[in-house]
Amino acid sequence: MKQLNLLIFIFLLLTFFNSQVEGSVRDPKPGPGVVTIYYSTDFSPTTYIHYSVNGGDWTTLPGKQMDPSTNKSMPLPYHQKSITGNTLTFVFDDGKGNWDHNQGGGNYVVGQPGIYSVKNHVLKTIYLYPKKCPGNPTCSNHGTCNNGNCVCKAGYYTEDCSKYCDPYTHIICDDGKTCVSGKTCPIQPLPGCQTYHDGKCSGDTIVMPPSFKARRWQTPTKGSSGHRDSFQDYSHLVGWNHVVYSSDHQSATLEVKATHKNGASLMYSFNGGSKTSSNTKQFTSSFTDALTVTVYGSDGTKLVLPEYDFMWNTHTAIQHASGDYRDGQKGAIVSLFGWPDGDIEKECEMLGQAGYLGVKLFPHQESLASIEPMNNILNPWYFYYQPVSYQQNGRHGTRAQLRQLIATCRSHNVRIYSDTVLNHMTGSGNDMQKHRNDAGSCVYWPGKNSTGGDNMSPFFTQGFTYIPNENTELPPSQEYPGVPYGPLDFHCERALNSWTDPLDLNAGWLVGLVDINTERDNVQERMADYLTDLIGLGFSGFRIDAAKHIKPDDLISIFTKFKRNMGGNIPKDFITWWEVLLGGEKDLLMCNTNSGYNFGKYIENGLDSNGFSTDDINKIKIWWSSFPNAPSPCGGVISRVRQVIENDDHDQQFGGSSRDMHGQGVILVKDRDVSGHRYFEKKLFSNPEGVSDNNNDWPIRLLLSSYYFPNNDAQLGAGIPDGKSDCSNCKVQCNTCKNVAKTSAYQPNKCGYTGPVYTRTHRDKEIVTAMRGWMGLDTGLSNSELGIPEGC
Ligand SMILES: *[C@@H]1O[C@H](CO)[C@@H](O)[C@H](O)[C@H]1NC(C)=O
Ligand SMILES: *[C@@H]1O[C@H](CO)[C@@H](O)[C@H](O)[C@H]1NC(C)=O
Repeated sequence: MKQLNLLIFIFLLLTFFNSQVEGSVRDPKPGPGVVTIYYSTDFSPTTYIHYSVNGGDWTTLPGKQMDPSTNKSMPLPYHQKSITGNTLTFVFDDGKGNWDHNQGGGNYVVGQPGIYSVKNHVLKTIYLYPKKCPGNPTCSNHGTCNNGNCVCKAGYYTEDCSKYCDPYTHIICDDGKTCVSGKTCPIQPLPGCQTYHDGKCSGDTIVMPPSFKARRWQTPTKGSSGHRDSFQDYSHLVGWNHVVYSSDHQSATLEVKATHKNGASLMYSFNGGSKTSSNTKQFTSSFTDALTVTVYGSDGTKLVLPEYDFMWNTHTAIQHASGDYRDGQKGAIVSLFGWPDGDIEKECEMLGQAGYLGVKLFPHQESLASIEPMNNILNPWYFYYQPVSYQQNGRHGTRAQLRQLIATCRSHNVRIYSDTVLNHMTGSGNDMQKHRNDAGSCVYWPGKNSTGGDNMSPFFTQGFTYIPNENTELPPSQEYPGVPYGPLDFHCERALNSWTDPLDLNAGWLVGLVDINTERDNVQERMADYLTDLIGLGFSGFRIDAAKHIKPDDLISIFTKFKRNMGGNIPKDFITWWEVLLGGEKDLLMCNTNSGYNFGKYIENGLDSNGFSTDDINKIKIWWSSFPNAPSPCGGVISRVRQVIENDDHDQQFGGSSRDMHGQGVILVKDRDVSGHRYFEKKLFSNPEGVSDNNNDWPIRLLLSSYYFPNNDAQLGAGIPDGKSDCSNCKVQCNTCKNVAKTSAYQPNKCGYTGPVYTRTHRDKEIVTAMRGWMGLDTGLSNSELGIPEGC
């Protein structure tokens, strides 16, 4: 205070001298040995800093002129000045006798090199650099100065030797900054904003380097801080059930495939029975429970596998009194986009009455979930397609709820189909670890969770990580212990840039999603077992998401193993349809059998030589993206029995919808044209574009019921009105969250297009009637006989 008054006095005497002799000497760069001050002033565009460095003389009044800040994070009115030194005492003025002093009225004082800011008379420390010698020639009295660096005496540490670490009870870690009791130093993150950048492909290699095997077993161990009950002993023990049915599907052999990190010997218990050393057990249709398998390691580790269902319990009879269902090989399947399990279960009575073949669910496996918005939306729908495991704890329900849904729907003669993601797991960086972005901004974000909630599986990717794993002490790598997949089960990291290069299509990381190495036999086995589990749960078939990004040979192998698991006898009513968007690559992907990456005749030939009958091959279909604008892109290269058609589809349910149907179809949420939409959905059944034999062409046809974008905001279309995108569940960065309020999907008194929010096109009387006509069902039934409200 006193010094300030004196300064003002002197300043007034000298005010007519413009003593500014700044010259063109450049400021030192912010860094060790430098004090950098950012000063926010509104009182004058011209600002001076008057200071004493290292306790030396003060600058000549009014001090040194400050420069406008060049730091984008500290924009104008911030000004900056960097001064070499260890300590700085300073005040600001405008060169005209107006002073900015410290809150208490005195000088500002900093005692260490670093980055500081001053705003509204408050000095804040942004970053501290260590006090290096020679500015600290005695090294805080605990060391000697050697070429600008302190060499500390025993027991002292940090770059300026200012701290003591008792050598009898503690150790100083290699970073020179940490003193810990005991003998284990904490794992050190990368310095600055750096992140790991390994695991990338070099040249045409698509596999991970074999050394990445050492990066497996990343799950926190029991008792460590990141562990959760649902992580079990995944740090040491993982596994799954491999089931092969007899050809009549009335008995099965179950083999537990478990792996222990250290090769401990294992014992097995089936449904709580006594422990046995055999990992294999026979079951017959007299076993009517859901099965629980427990694995015990000789080192005390334990693994409880998710419940397992056998198909003899779940594929209850379906008996249609009339209609051309062909044992499940013909009919209309409704995609109920964003519907929770309980709502679908209730809707199934109506769906059965109306005569639908079935419902296609959205991915029900455990998938990504977060308390932080992604592109302003909490849990956008595309999180469905980022699997965390093949456990059925999905966004819309648990395995138990799913089992219940399937049983109820089948009791109404409605089959259930899965949406199955085999190509990839979550996006790189979408996992449970801490992350940051090294692209200049150094933004940090927390790990994500899964839809599993209390049953969440751990999951790890390499993207945006900067802390070595606690167990491996190596950089993180891809691992999904709940499946289980380890680092070598993935392709090395490669951007998917080319849509014409088979290597890129197969092994590229589609929009950064970690790409599974489907060439590996153990991966193909795991996938076939997953498909077998879905059949055991009662599914009648499955859509295969992103099939175009799985090598055709690999899909042939996976389905051949699946057929083996089915006792060589694929169920009569089974169907699958693969998502292979033809786009501009129809020659490569479909028309040219010998293209080297072909999902047309090449797949048929491959299945045929692996013993698939024509009937079986006809059950394996392609989602026909050329419909409706170019229904026959390369003539009859594959039979229309193997093509699944749809008008509006779920991939268009966001603002950037790109499917151009050339006026031959309508995307309801985008075009908002109810009569046009109804027209094309009716046409899908009565007279689809390009049809020649409506009775036999395209026996499987899909209908989409979805939801409108709330408030007409297309961005909100990425959220689902199921409550999981409701901002009341947001915990991080919630100021960016755009709300998608919860609405009930099941509303028995609503029609196809009357909302609220959800669309229920499968309830539209005209569409139902067109579908029934195609299916050879009575078209003269009343609304109540069809299960839909009067007036719909
Ligand atoms: C720029 O400003 C940010 C935000 O205050 C700070 O963290 C960073 O250290 C500054 N950079 C430099 C080089 O001063
Ligand atoms: C994940 O779940 C844990 C436990 O429920 C919770 O504390 C954490 O905030 C969640 N994090 C995210 C990003 O969802």
